[in-house]
Amino acid sequence: MTTDITLYTLQAMKERGEKFACITAYDALFAGLCCEAGIELLLTGDSLGMVLQGHDSTLPVTMDDMIYHMQCVKRGNRGALLMADLPFMSYASEVQTLENAAKLMRAGAQIVKLEGGAWIAETTRLLTERGIPVCAHMGLTPQSINRIGGFRVQGRDPAAANTILEEALLLESCGANMLLVECIPRSLAKKISASLSIPVIGIGAGPDVDGQIMVMHDALGIGPITPRFVRNFLTEAVDGIPGALAAYVHAVKTGTFPAAQHCYD
Ligand code: KIV
Repeated sequence: MTTDITLYTLQAMKERGEKFACITAYDALFAGLCCEAGIELLLTGDSLGMVLQGHDSTLPVTMDDMIYHMQCVKRGNRGALLMADLPFMSYASEVQTLENAAKLMRAGAQIVKLEGGAWIAETTRLLTERGIPVCAHMGLTPQSINRIGGFRVQGRDPAAANTILEEALLLESCGANMLLVECIPRSLAKKISASLSIPVIGIGAGPDVDGQIMVMHDALGIGPITPRFVRNFLTEAVDGIPGALAAYVHAVKTGTFPAAQHCYD
């Protein structure tokens, strides 16, 4: 069972070299099940646009959608740290960013996640100085899917890898409390995690980061697409969904997930 996880818990886990498990949750029932399985961080992600609403990207997700699902997760939560995504175009100006981040915090979020590199540095400073913790999401950033040309691995060439590392360091210096890296080579993720003092969470980024995150539907083998980094934990579970979630936590903590076949390099 998860109990009262804070940013400091995760920071201390990083310092001890102890892995933590994160997953997306969009409703109260699953939030409760995740806590029973010992998951430390729940993300109410804008991936809900794809896995719940049936869109082919996260772009149609609105602030109202995020608030509704964050409130549901908050009701079912039993001690995990709650993170919520600021959806597409909800942090384009300073006033909008502050208003929308405050709405997510009032709905139950304890940290907000936003996608981007250097361009979100000032936004990160703005939020953290006002008491709103920030997780920066780098690498594959699904809200920029039209600019990057599809769901593809980022940071493969040395120049791109160096930009991601430099921008991650910049965001940490601007007050980011956490970093999430998606679909980047394992070696780059390892370097980023070693260079930053804040916890680094990975999805499709290999095992050498501080925490792993999965989209719930992927972990249960029912996601709309199955990227290389996905493992179906339901097939190996002895007691259905609670067992699958427990298997995920166990695999993250013992370092058996992600394995070589789930990594890019
Ligand atoms: O929205 C989401 O679920 C995410 C995950 C891909 C980490 O950002």
